[in-house]
Amino acid sequence: MGIVVLISGNGSNLQALIDAVQSKKLPTTIDLVVSNRKSAYGLQRAEAAGIPTLVLTLKSFLADGKTREDYDRALAEAIWPYKPQLIVLAGWMHILSSVFLEYFPNRVINLHPALPNEFAGINAIERAFEAYQRGEIKQSGCMVHYAIPEVDAGDVIVQEIVPFLPNDTLESFAERMHAAEHRILVEAVSRLLAQSSS
Ligand code: GAR
Repeated sequence: MGIVVLISGNGSNLQALIDAVQSKKLPTTIDLVVSNRKSAYGLQRAEAAGIPTLVLTLKSFLADGKTREDYDRALAEAIWPYKPQLIVLAGWMHILSSVFLEYFPNRVINLHPALPNEFAGINAIERAFEAYQRGEIKQSGCMVHYAIPEVDAGDVIVQEIVPFLPNDTLESFAERMHAAEHRILVEAVSRLLAQSSS
């Protein structure tokens, strides 16, 4: 039993997982990478690491007169044969309904670049930086949590605070945020694998 990783874009967090598996820091295999976007650069990262990939776009389902639930069911059915120990949402920008989540109870985890109950949804890093510029916050952070139907919510597995620094730009802040995300994602997967093998 290995893990399945879902992505939508660059895949730098997928890369952190690939590196951790290759260096044996994570005692598992990545058996499949799924993207909901054909152009996701993370697909190339997966292919370079010899990991099977699957592209499944919501658009193609809606164009056939099917629903979001049909999409979620087809996605779950495509992943099911891999019997994943964990499904990792690493920059996966599609909200999964309970139709999907009920196939894999307590096995779907999500990475989000904000602290619990803050900046759910897209562009969380940009929105946190704007709040900092308005003087509303002094720190943000990132978390890995169990996925539930509510977006970017669910029991937290690992979180890390990312403070704002004097002279921070959006770019410098985002860079530190991404470095923290890569750390906590590997840490969360490591902890859950250790729990399930003990
Ligand atoms: C990451 O910052 C991740 O936390 C975020 O998308 C980025 C993907 O980067 N996810 C969310 O905002 C989920 N709500 P990557 O493609 O380089 O891993």
